[in-house]
Amino acid sequence: MDEEQPPYLAPTIAYVKDQLAQAEGGHDWYHVERVWRLARRLAAAEDTDLSVVDLGALLHDVADAKFHHGDESIGPRKARQFMERLALGPGISDHVVKIIEQVSFRKSGVHTEPFSRELAVVQDADRLDAMGAIGIARAFNFGGHKGRPLHVPPEEHWEKPPAATVQHFYDKLLLLKEGMHTELGQALAEERHRFMQTFLAQFYAEWHGRR
Ligand code: ADP
Ligand code: NI
Repeated sequence: MDEEQPPYLAPTIAYVKDQLAQAEGGHDWYHVERVWRLARRLAAAEDTDLSVVDLGALLHDVADAKFHHGDESIGPRKARQFMERLALGPGISDHVVKIIEQVSFRKSGVHTEPFSRELAVVQDADRLDAMGAIGIARAFNFGGHKGRPLHVPPEEHWEKPPAATVQHFYDKLLLLKEGMHTELGQALAEERHRFMQTFLAQFYAEWHGRR
C-alpha cells in the first residue's frame, strides 16, 4: 500500500525534532512521536480532520511552560509562526493553536470537555503517554531530572514531605483514566491504569522486603 503523505508532514516533523533536540527524556521527540501515532489511531474511529490531529499532536509540546519559566504563551506562539510557512486550509492553524493551548493537564484539569473531537483525540493520546509502562518511565525520569526521591513512606512525613515521584501517581497519573474522551482511549487507559496499580503493589512489596 503506497499512502501519500500530506505535504505539511515532513516540514513539521523536521521542525519539531529541531525544537526538541535538547529536551528532557520524557518530553522529547519520541514522546511527540508516540502521541502522534496514538492520536492517529484514536482519530481513525472518530469524525476528525486528520491535518488538525497531525499538527496538533506534532506541535503540542514545542515549548513546554515548565521549561520556559512558566510562560504558557510561547508554545502556541511558536506553533502559529511555524504554521505560517505551510500552505494550510482556512481555519486549520487557529484550530491547532487552540488545541496546543488546551491540551495540557495543568491548564484544563481532568474533567473539562474538549471543544473539538480533534482536541479530544490529541488530549487522550497525550494523557495515555503519561500512563502505563511509558508513563511510569517518564515519571521517574522527570523525578530524577528534578533530583527527587523515588518514594518517601507516609510514616516519615514528620516534616514537610519532599515531592517524591510515587506521590505523583496519586496526584495525577491514577486520575487520568477518569478523563478520557474517546471510547478507544478509555479502553487503553483502563489497561494502562491496571498496569500502574500492579507496578505500585509490587513496588511497595519490594520496598518492605515482602517479595
Ligand atoms: P502536560 O504537559 O500533559 O500538562 P506535564 O508536563 O505535567 O503534563 O507532564 C509531562 C510528563 O512529566 C508526564 O509523564 C508526567 O507524569 C511527568 N511529570 C510531571 N510532573 C511530574 C512530577 N511532579 N513527578 C513525576 N513526573 C512528573
Ligand atoms: Ni505532551
